[in-house]
Amino acid sequence: MKILFVGFGNLGAQVFDLFVLRAKRGDQFLVGGRNLDYIRERTRWTAGAALQLGILAQADVTYMDVWNIDQTAQTIAEFKPDVIFSSMTTLASSIVAQLPHPYAETLAQARGGPWLPTTLVLVHKLMQAVQQTGLTITVLNGGTPDNSHEVLSKVGLAPTSGIGNIALTIPPLKRAIAEQLHLSVDLIEVHFFAHTYVVQSLRSGTTGEAPFHLTALAGGADITAQIDLPAIFRVLPLTMEHEYTQLLTAASAAAVLDVITAKSSVIVHAPGPIGLPGGYSIQRQRTGIEVALPPGFTLHEMIQINQEGQRFDGIDTIDDSGTVYFSERNMAILKDILHYECQRMPLSEVEDRAKELQAKYADFRKTVE
Ligand SMILES: NC(=O)c1ccc[n+]([C@@H]2O[C@H](COP(=O)([O-])OP(=O)(O)OC[C@H]3O[C@@H](n4cnc5c(N)ncnc54)[C@H](OP(=O)(O)O)[C@@H]3O)[C@@H](O)[C@H]2O)c1
Repeated sequence: MKILFVGFGNLGAQVFDLFVLRAKRGDQFLVGGRNLDYIRERTRWTAGAALQLGILAQADVTYMDVWNIDQTAQTIAEFKPDVIFSSMTTLASSIVAQLPHPYAETLAQARGGPWLPTTLVLVHKLMQAVQQTGLTITVLNGGTPDNSHEVLSKVGLAPTSGIGNIALTIPPLKRAIAEQLHLSVDLIEVHFFAHTYVVQSLRSGTTGEAPFHLTALAGGADITAQIDLPAIFRVLPLTMEHEYTQLLTAASAAAVLDVITAKSSVIVHAPGPIGLPGGYSIQRQRTGIEVALPPGFTLHEMIQINQEGQRFDGIDTIDDSGTVYFSERNMAILKDILHYECQRMPLSEVEDRAKELQAKYADFRKTVE
């Protein structure tokens, strides 16, 4: 298999580590990015670790700046990857937490929605480059898949699936359910449907009042009615590790890749699969991945749950042309602190909005340093 990595920051590098350490003979990796010295050094560490384990991984690096769609398309066309793993952003997600009190706490209340341009702009460019090659490529994306994939689906450019987010809740949920019912964790299966707004809220032990759906099974039998779900959610802050390494997210990427490449028929969880908003349980079907619905529930219901979560995250709606309408309440926080405001964003304006948001954040940063 040939895998191209685009966006080799904290998340991309950790996913690369895991994919290389699981590589099969003949697998080829190419890492594209702008800081070639760093990427060369970082990929050498991984190749060295692989060699310790007797894995001879072929990993090359190449200059890639996705703002340049033609150059990106050319690199993709030459390498012909089966899979692209993308995790790019123009502003790291940690920038809000790095701000001094009380700005960090106040801006955090705006949630992820208003910041959408900072990731959407790059995955939009990447998907345009993929389209330009005419190749059929599986694209897995880590950068705000809950919100950006629905936008891109409106113009036929949705990546195959997101990774992480909802998937990060599954091991702690399974452990908590098993513990509450005194069952072995390997008997427990869950179908969880929730936007990343809910996922982030669960780090504090609630769903933040947004809707979700959870069906739990033990050995195939429905045990949902036996669970005290609020009690389960209350213990999650203890077990939903706030990871710094991104190893948990990387494991989710590997699990989704296994399902897509038919190595696994199990149910996994992913945000933004097949251009949908929010998070779902998914499974491989004959024609690719599909949402794995629990009996008695429809895809329409699960999409509605996720769209409601998306509103809490700061995005009111996404219309059929891909124009994003931001929630006034969330945007008011960015307007107040950063003097950035955008109520309506046609996809054609995402580049300008991403640059404006980056500039306004940089200006604000200077005033608090
Ligand atoms: N789904 C999940 O569960 C999950 C978990 C963790 C993170 N994330 C998301 O994943 C994204 C990446 O997070 P991170 O922590 O890895 O951020 P990060 O460390 O800041 O990495 C971002 C990467 O994007 C690259 N990039 C930016 N502009 C580019 C361009 N024009 N062409 C090519 N590469 C470009 C950067 O390269 P340069 O050095 O050249 O700028 C950098 O390598 C964020 O959106 C974050 O919120 C998602």
